[in-house]
Amino acid sequence: MTILVTGGAGYIGSHTCVELLQHGYDIIVVDNFSNSRPESLHRVKQITGRTFQTYYINLLDKKSVEKVFLDHQIDAVIHFAGLKAVGESVAVPLQYYQNNVKGSLILFEVMEQFSVKKLIFSSSATVYGNPKTVPITEDVELRATNPYGRTKQMIEEILLDTAHADSSWSIALLRYFNPIGAHESGLIGEDPEGPPNNLLPYISQIAIGRREQLRIFGNNYPTADGTGVRDYIHVVDLAMGHLKALEHMQKNHGIEAYNLGTGKGYSVLEVVDAFERVSGNQIPYTFVKRRPGDISSCFADPAKAKKQLAWQAMRGIEEMCADAWRWQRNNPTGYRIISEKTPMQKPTSVFLMH
Ligand code: UFG
Repeated sequence: MTILVTGGAGYIGSHTCVELLQHGYDIIVVDNFSNSRPESLHRVKQITGRTFQTYYINLLDKKSVEKVFLDHQIDAVIHFAGLKAVGESVAVPLQYYQNNVKGSLILFEVMEQFSVKKLIFSSSATVYGNPKTVPITEDVELRATNPYGRTKQMIEEILLDTAHADSSWSIALLRYFNPIGAHESGLIGEDPEGPPNNLLPYISQIAIGRREQLRIFGNNYPTADGTGVRDYIHVVDLAMGHLKALEHMQKNHGIEAYNLGTGKGYSVLEVVDAFERVSGNQIPYTFVKRRPGDISSCFADPAKAKKQLAWQAMRGIEEMCADAWRWQRNNPTGYRIISEKTPMQKPTSVFLMH
């Protein structure tokens, strides 16, 4: 089976590519490297000993997307490509709607044109907004609270309408909770541009000496220790969720949403503690006021994915932290091999990489 992976060079995309290749799938990657580096794909080839084609294109360029479908017999698409920073989406919402919503629409149109109707969409727990109760089940009302989250919600709605209009589509909406960790090889991992917004990359960069101190956003939430609680999930477990969804859609049509989380919440202080234990590094921190838009507690009820997809997260918080640390320790500046200031070698025109 040949799977088209959009955004395959990104954090979750690259880990999913590894699992797909190791489980016998062929893949084609499409990426515009706006927030990722070709080096991650070289590492995917190194880990798996397999090769694949990569197209450097933007999904907004319909002709280029069509070319990929003309060049290959594609059986299913996993759609990761998209902008993903909550704060940035508040500052430049039109870029988010243009890139995420319009880019997705073009992809879906081309899929329909070529009768490729199996799709896994990379959604997010952010579509739940501020949940009334936890753990969160898939059937609660969606109420995203920022433009990034609304792009995910809108794309889900577009796909619901599409699947209802044409029952030959098979679509899985995978709502990720908080992916952290890295592949056990230490060759691929999360590599944010600039100061990380997310907790784990920030902690790892402190441990490697790139940042001084963690600012913990709020210590007066109604949680056991006052810090925010999230459902952290190992990125390899998350990647495996995509393979299980692919297997499921071989036999089932229609559209379903699934929470991909562990079902267990950890506070910021618990994560800091786990990281310190497995890495042997002390993480200095200070409490500052709450980050605007943050919620107190968010964790999944993953029962639906377990029942229907036969998937469940296997790795605990210590393994997540140990793998994140191995990646950071082996790659202190991420995929920037020479120095952080080295500009990424970006291709200058639409092209195909081998
Ligand atoms: N936190 C800090 N200091 C930091 C960074 C984070 O205290 O420097 C805290 C946050 O306040 C929160 C927890 O660590 O309590 C996790 O924060 P992250 O930024 O890592 O993750 P979020 O839960 O805020 O958001 C993530 C993704 C979103 C996605 C959402 C889905 O970044 O894209 O999960 O639930 F939408």
